[in-house]
Formats: sequence, C-alpha cells, structure tokens
Amino acid sequence: MRVPDYPLADADKWGRVDGYFADLLAPEDAALKAALAANAYAGLPAHDVSAAQGKMLALFIRMTGARRVLEIGTLGGYSTIWMARALPEGGRIDTIEFSPLHADVARANLAAAGVADRVALHQGAALDVLPGLEGPFDLIFIDADKPNNPNYLAWALKLSRPGTTIIGDNVVRGGAVADPDSQDPNVVGVRAFLDAIAQDPRLDATAIQTVGEKGWDGFSLAVVR
Ligand code: DHB
Ligand code: MG
Repeated sequence: MRVPDYPLADADKWGRVDGYFADLLAPEDAALKAALAANAYAGLPAHDVSAAQGKMLALFIRMTGARRVLEIGTLGGYSTIWMARALPEGGRIDTIEFSPLHADVARANLAAAGVADRVALHQGAALDVLPGLEGPFDLIFIDADKPNNPNYLAWALKLSRPGTTIIGDNVVRGGAVADPDSQDPNVVGVRAFLDAIAQDPRLDATAIQTVGEKGWDGFSLAVVR
C-alpha cells in the first residue's frame, strides 16, 4: 500500500476546506441557500451534494455538452438546480423522486430558482417511472436508495447511447464499501452496482473518494463505450 502523502485530517478540517473552495469557486446564490433552508425546514435528510460537488456536476455537464440529463433521486432539488443552470439552451433534466413530500419541496425550490421550465420532476418509484422515459440521455446521476443501484444502472444503460456519462453518488460510505462482508444494505447495493459496472463491457469507469463537509464518501464515474 502506498504511504499517504498527507496525514489523515479530521472532519472539521475537511469541512473548512470545502467551505473555502465553495466560497472561492462554487458560491451559492440566494436560491441555492434558500433551497437548503427549505429542505431543512421541511425535515428532509441533509443528503444534498456539497456546493463543490454541485459545481462539479455542473462542470461535467458543460465538459460533455450534455443536453439531456437524468437524475435518479431528486431529494429537495439542490443538485438539480446546479445541473439545470449548466444546461445549454433547450437542455432538459428529468429527475425522479419517490417521496411526495420531497418532491413537493423540490418543485417549490426549482420554481424559486427559476429552472422549473427546464426540469421535469417525476414523483414515484424510479423503477416505475424509468420505463416511461425515452432515451437517450447524455448524463445520468444516480443518487437515490442505494439497494436499488444495480437496477438503476441497468435502466441507465437502457436509456444511454455511446458516450453517455453515468455518475453514482455515495459509493464510499465512510470506507464501508471496501468491506466484502458488510451486511449494510446500502453497502451491499453499492458493491453490486460497482461490480456490475466493472463487469459490463459497455462501460469504462473509475471511482473517486472524497472528503469534505459530508465526511468521507465518493462517486463513481463511467462512460458508455
Ligand atoms: C445518504 C444518501 C445520499 O444520497 C448521500 O448523499 C449521503 C448519504 C444515505 O442514505 O446515507
Ligand atoms: Mg447522495
């Protein structure tokens, strides 16, 4: 194993660096701040991407020229706002949310952010909604219930084309992903998802660990051949 260049920092430091980067490179405007406040007020879990991660998703959209984006797991629409703002003229996001409460909060957040015209919010179980969507999507962000990740990957592939980018959130889970004996259904789902990505000859992929205000986690990144 390689000796780390940096000693393990604590979560406070990770959060401070995230704050520094976000202030510098990914500042939240009033609408993004209001969305987080509305989510907290409505009691949604604080599982939104960080500002720096939201900006990363926005940059992926711009780097790939994505016009059609699929998001599985809207929560309160914080990541949706970041992505919707990065779309080119005429671009659209389909985003799917299981919880009627979360979907209501997201709908209001998206309207307040001025991006509702670019976003189709589908309330329902993703596995019920996905068969009704028409591909191909250019970029797909999988960020919903992790036990279903392998099913979401199968749908992402059905709704893709060569060159489609598929991103998975929360694939590290404080390091738990490396435990093959984990009984945590989230870890089991993520490991099955990563195995399926690794074994699928249509996909070329990597996974990156992140530390920051959300602690120690990470994302997978795949492109369809
Ligand atoms: C969890 C889910 C998320 O999408 C996230 O970004 C962080 C945590 C969770 O279910 O634990
Ligand atoms: Mg997530």
